[in-house]
Amino acid sequence: MKFFIDTANLDQIKEAHDLGILDGVTTNPSLMAKEGITGEANVIAHYKAICAIVDANVSAEVISTTFEEMIKEGEALAKLDPKIVVKIPMIKDGVKAIKYLTGKGIRTNCTLIFSAGQALLAAKAGASYVSPFLGRLDDISTDGLQLIEDIRLIFDNYGYPTEILAASIRGPLHIVNCAKLGADVITAPLAAITALLKHPLTDSGLATFLADHAKASGK
Ligand code: G3P
Repeated sequence: MKFFIDTANLDQIKEAHDLGILDGVTTNPSLMAKEGITGEANVIAHYKAICAIVDANVSAEVISTTFEEMIKEGEALAKLDPKIVVKIPMIKDGVKAIKYLTGKGIRTNCTLIFSAGQALLAAKAGASYVSPFLGRLDDISTDGLQLIEDIRLIFDNYGYPTEILAASIRGPLHIVNCAKLGADVITAPLAAITALLKHPLTDSGLATFLADHAKASGK
């Protein structure tokens, strides 16, 4: 399973990259705004800064909603760096834009997926990734993980190459459960990724090993 980090924070992207497990980065307009990145020139410079840190795969989201504007924006984003994957919302013109951009050899990530039907449409249009938002479904008492399972079944039934990029991850159990269900990729905040490291028995076990070593060495 690939690990992407879901942030526009350069320090956190560096930290995840330095851990040696990072396969990519996803951003969205809210995450960019959270970092105070506004204005076209600053946004473009920020995408370039992210691409300079990671080895591959940076999702950059369009902010337009018509077919014509989305393909123009998508083509401009894709030209910034070969690592860029254009993130397109799951709307009617978005599906058309995915089809068009895929035909031009531009990778796309269809975002704001909340149903299996939406994922199926995006895969039919040729999206490289679909991003089901499982945390936001959980937030409204709907089973987000069930959606990952349903999309996995559908894509496997027909051999769609579109990768399932589980998004809106809230914690380490989401990541583990996505791995059990066969999601191709998870994108998560740094805290959810580093929480995978933690187990109290690891901490107490290490403390005992080091104490025993020190005692045996007469320290
Ligand atoms: O980047 C898309 C998605 O991961 C957003 O997550 O936490 O805003 O629901 P969240």
